[in-house]
Amino acid sequence: MMRRKLVVGNWKMHGSTAGNRVLLEKIVNGVRDYRNADYVVCVPYPYLYQAQSLLQGSNVMWGAQNLCATKDGALTGAVSPAMLVDFGCTHVLVGHSERRLQFHETDDTAAARFHAAQEAGLIPILCMGESREERDSDWTEFIVGRQLDSVMRRYGVEVLRRAVLAYEPLWAVGSDNPATPDQAEEVHQFIRNRIARCDPEIARQVRILYGGSLTAANAAAMFAMPNVDGGLVGRASIKAEEFIGICRAAN
Ligand code: PGA
Repeated sequence: MMRRKLVVGNWKMHGSTAGNRVLLEKIVNGVRDYRNADYVVCVPYPYLYQAQSLLQGSNVMWGAQNLCATKDGALTGAVSPAMLVDFGCTHVLVGHSERRLQFHETDDTAAARFHAAQEAGLIPILCMGESREERDSDWTEFIVGRQLDSVMRRYGVEVLRRAVLAYEPLWAVGSDNPATPDQAEEVHQFIRNRIARCDPEIARQVRILYGGSLTAANAAAMFAMPNVDGGLVGRASIKAEEFIGICRAAN
């Protein structure tokens, strides 16, 4: 089965209305003819309206970096799934390691947000990955397996039909030390096999992205691995030429 590749930019806490306009216009023009893969940018909440205005009608989708699991209510500072839909989002990141580490999010709350996103019609991108210490102790499969199970155990394997998975080893995120294509492939295969135990068909079709220090220079080798279905891109997603280069590699 040919899985269509997907490249997702994660701007993190970067951007300004003036800078975003230049970046988004370059991206739209740069990927216009790349029709064989899918592209998403996940922007900070305040810029969702701008992303919607500049991207609608293009082949670039947009999404958010987080969401609240609750529909509405007295939750100061929170953003609901329906609000993201209201601004045309198609995707939303869930359980990014920076959220887990710096904002104390857990497997439980990530699973709840995953579910809330789907209920609202969004495609959640579940981020998973081990720390350097965990890898060195040979715990990679235990950690990634636990993060995947947090969703599968609660909501069933079926929910992976309308979801994206992302393997982001913490030691590769925001470093200059990407996983090697073989290291990524090994974990992606582990993830796919674990899903296949529950449902082989869903395992074959679910897209598993790699994230962590992807660049235009290393993306093609990564995307050539049979179980790497695209990338989740941080720093290189806010540089037009880099991001377009990664999209070209996916295409
Ligand atoms: P990076 O970040 O590409 O800057 O390493 C990836 C991510 O956090 O999604």
